[in-house]
Amino acid sequence: MSEARHEAVAAAWIERMTLRQKIGQMTMAERKSVTPADVKRFALGAVLSGGGSHPAGNAPADWVGMTDAFWQAAVGDPDSPGVPILFGCDAVHGNNSVSGATIFPHNIGLGAAGDAELVAAAARVTAREMLASGVDWNFAPMLAVAQDCRWGRTYESYGGDPHRAAEFGRRFVEELQGQGIVACVKHWVGDGGTTHGIDQGETTLSWEELEATHVAPYYPALEAGVMTVMVSFNSWNGEKCHGHRFLVTDVLKARLGFDGLVVSDWDGIKYLDEDYGTAVRLSVNAGLDMFMVPERWRDFIDTLEGQVRQGHVGQDRIDDAVRRILRTKLRHGLFDLPRPAARAGARFACTGSAAHRDIARDAVRRSVVLLKNEADILPLDPAQRILVAGKSAHDLGRQCGGWTLSWQGETGNDTIEGTTVWEGIRAMAPNARLSEDGADAGPDRDDVAVVVIGETPYAEGFGDIRVGDELLVEAGSTVDGVADPIEPYARSLALADIHPEDLACIRRIAARGVPVVAVLISGRPLVVDRELAVSNAFVAGWLPGSEGRGVGEVLLGRCDFTGRLPLPWPDGRGDEPRFPAGYGLVYSRFDNAVSHDV
Ligand code: GLC
Repeated sequence: MSEARHEAVAAAWIERMTLRQKIGQMTMAERKSVTPADVKRFALGAVLSGGGSHPAGNAPADWVGMTDAFWQAAVGDPDSPGVPILFGCDAVHGNNSVSGATIFPHNIGLGAAGDAELVAAAARVTAREMLASGVDWNFAPMLAVAQDCRWGRTYESYGGDPHRAAEFGRRFVEELQGQGIVACVKHWVGDGGTTHGIDQGETTLSWEELEATHVAPYYPALEAGVMTVMVSFNSWNGEKCHGHRFLVTDVLKARLGFDGLVVSDWDGIKYLDEDYGTAVRLSVNAGLDMFMVPERWRDFIDTLEGQVRQGHVGQDRIDDAVRRILRTKLRHGLFDLPRPAARAGARFACTGSAAHRDIARDAVRRSVVLLKNEADILPLDPAQRILVAGKSAHDLGRQCGGWTLSWQGETGNDTIEGTTVWEGIRAMAPNARLSEDGADAGPDRDDVAVVVIGETPYAEGFGDIRVGDELLVEAGSTVDGVADPIEPYARSLALADIHPEDLACIRRIAARGVPVVAVLISGRPLVVDRELAVSNAFVAGWLPGSEGRGVGEVLLGRCDFTGRLPLPWPDGRGDEPRFPAGYGLVYSRFDNAVSHDV
């Protein structure tokens, strides 16, 4: 269908919709707070699955059943409103809410791998597994340019380089939308540049600084035709993005020519004012088009209707928002698609397939970064007696991190399918053994130890590292005028302060005369001076996802290290980085021919 046809169809719908039906199109509710009957009655424009929110069974077919029911209510019945809904979710490192999905390294690891075509491959796999679950819209890629490792969302970024974010974001969008999933670049704008790295905090920069670091990564994705943009929780120079007319309307829409839909983040408008009517008015007039109001969506509809009827929001702004939403759905081909259960994707048997997992395992191999290799202890010889220790050695949840089956992530091996770091090493090294605390280490039975340490899963502000809560108010992280001091992940960037059990484990094994290869499973660089000092080798593993075997393949020399730091690595002694961005060692001796069938 041509653009002209799209515009004509949209105009015809706008002509015949009532005000409440138009406002319904601007409303996105969360699946647990809405029924198909509600979608029909209120003519809702979209439904989302928030992090970890999934139907019973959580198999792709269960998702198809869910999205199909919402679809049927919107367009399938005689009394349906007739406009198909978009169903969205956060598939930020694979189709990560669905059981059995292929889980890729989080973006920080893809940033370390440094290959845009690897990002494109991840997007293709993610799209196909999303199609298999009947979902249309991915709230990805995140184009944040992380400036402070204390930020809990550092791992969702490709690192600290705006050019890499731009290149990787474009390729993700091209491949995702090329496969038939609507992409959403986020969060507009400046989320990675907040003071002290506080999530949803204050980004204080000149326009020139903001543009160069945080706006520029959006340009290639916009040129590539990304269909949606999500607004950020943070503020810029004291003004929240969710109410920022200059950033949303004057820059994104007018200056950059974006004609798709701008969507709010999760209840993002409530931060604008204690009075909900004022908050709604400010955000709609700032230029937001669709509103993620997961639970209070009825209140939103009634409030916005009141604002229009009182003359605080113009009918032309409503029509512009609805036109953008309909234009996006028409461009996506949503009006021409059959119901989710009848789509080709519903028959895809690709979720967690060996082919998909192989692609993810290659990403793991290419993401890990070698920071230290004393006396060339690496690569290991598969015949060596390898002790595998550490709390993250045999833990799929820890190696996947947040946004995996649940919003905050999992621990243990009960819910995620894949291979742990231990299982990967065991499969290649017959004399390897697992001893999580390493208490029985000894040169009589172990030639070398691989000690896998690091963070436990977290997402968003729960991953922040913050020395004091007074910083929250300074950073503008308030809800209804009150600082929302959720307990941060830690009060120090030093791993030994956060997780002393890791240093203790390394020391315990080293003290028994067994050399240590430390592998850090984390969403970001951390101060690891003390762990480095007692380790013979040290590897940044990031959050590798479901294919932990890939870590072992590099340690055992099936291939060389190629990963490079995507942002500087902090030093505990001062401001100079311990390792600069771009740092990464390779094997000096590489006996094995580079084996491609690793
Ligand atoms: C969250 C995140 C956003 C995500 C949205 C839906 O709060 O900020 O990145 O897409 O809610 O889950």
